[in-house]
Amino acid sequence: MITVAVETSCDETSCAVVSGGKVLSNAVSSSVDMHCPYGGVVPEIASRYHVDYISPVFEEALDEAGISVRDIELVCVTSGPGLPGSLLVGISFAKALAAALDVPILGVNHLTGHILSGFIGQTDIVGNLDDLKYTALVVSGGHTALYRCEGCSFEILGRTLDDAAGEAFDKAAKVMGLGYPGGPAIERAASEAGSDELIPFPRAMLSDPENLDFSFSGLKTAVLYHWRDSDKTRREAFLVSRSFQEAVVDVIIEKTRRALERTGTGILAAGGGVICNRRLREKLRALCSKNSVKAFLPEKALTGDNAAMIAFSGELLYSRGARSDLSLVAEPSLVR
Ligand code: KG4
Ligand code: ZN
Repeated sequence: MITVAVETSCDETSCAVVSGGKVLSNAVSSSVDMHCPYGGVVPEIASRYHVDYISPVFEEALDEAGISVRDIELVCVTSGPGLPGSLLVGISFAKALAAALDVPILGVNHLTGHILSGFIGQTDIVGNLDDLKYTALVVSGGHTALYRCEGCSFEILGRTLDDAAGEAFDKAAKVMGLGYPGGPAIERAASEAGSDELIPFPRAMLSDPENLDFSFSGLKTAVLYHWRDSDKTRREAFLVSRSFQEAVVDVIIEKTRRALERTGTGILAAGGGVICNRRLREKLRALCSKNSVKAFLPEKALTGDNAAMIAFSGELLYSRGARSDLSLVAEPSLVR
C-alpha cells in the first residue's frame, strides 16, 4: 500500500510517502527561522507558512519517492494535538487529496506518531507489533509523557503537570537570549562549558518513588532568577545551559527508570524533538543497557515533527481497522 501523510501540527510543514513500513520520502520545511525573533512559535505565522509550502512540500515528497499522485492509496493526516490553524491547513489539504483521488483518509494522533517513531525501519518489531509490550517516552515541545504500551494501545503512566521539557528548553534559552528553538541552542551552549561545575538547579517530583509525572516550571523559574542575578557573560550562559540540561535529563532518566521497572517491559520506545539531544540519548542508552532493556530511539531526522512518523503509524492503524472520513476535524487538544 502506498501511504501519503501530511503533518502540520506546529511549525513544520511535512509530507511523506511510506509503503509497507518503509519510508520512501520525508519532506520537511520549517518556519522556525520566522519565529526566531519572537522566542517561540507565532501561530499565525506558522499557519500562513503551511498554506504557502504545503503544495511544494507534497510535490517534493512524491518526486523523492518516485511516485505519481495516482499511486496514492491512503492519505493520513495529523488531526491533533497541535495549533488549530496549523492543523486545519494540513487537514484541508489531506481531505481535498483524498476526495480528488477517491481514496481513504485517516486522522492520526501526533503523539502516536512520536511513540511509534522509534520503530521506523525495524521490520522485526513491525511484523510482531500486536504482541509487543513496551514502554514509551515522548519528550517534545508540547508534551512530556510515559506510557505502558501493547501494540497500538497506549496507557498513560505519567505526564508533565506544567511545561513540557522542550518548552522549558525554549524558555530557558529565551531568558539567556540564546535564540529559538532553545533545545539545540542550549545543547550547543552546554557543550562549550569548560569545567564539570554544575549549578544545583532543582529536580522536581523525585521524592515520591511511585510518581511518574513531571514538572519543569520550577526549574525554568530557577534559571530565570539565577540569570537575573548573574553577570550574564557567555561563560555564565554555558554553565547555566549545562546545568539546566543535566537537570532536565536527570529527571527524565529517573522517571523512565521507574516506568521501565513498573511495566517490566524490556523495550523502550522514545520519540519527540528533545530525543534529538545527545546527552539525553546517551543517558537513555546507558540506562537501558544497565537494565537489559532494548532502546528504540528514532534517527535524529525523525525526532522532530515529520510526516514519516504519521504515515508509518497511519499505515499500521489502518491495517488494524482504524478509519476516518471527510468529516474529520482538527482536534487541537487531543490527548493520548
Ligand atoms: O517534537 P517537536 O518537533 O514538536 C512538538 O511536537 O512539540 O519538538 C520540538 C521541541 C522544541 O521545544 C525544541 O527546543 C526541542 O524539541 N528540541 C531539543 C533539541 N532539538 C529540538 N531539545 C533539546 N535538545 C535538542 N537538541
Ligand atoms: Zn511533535
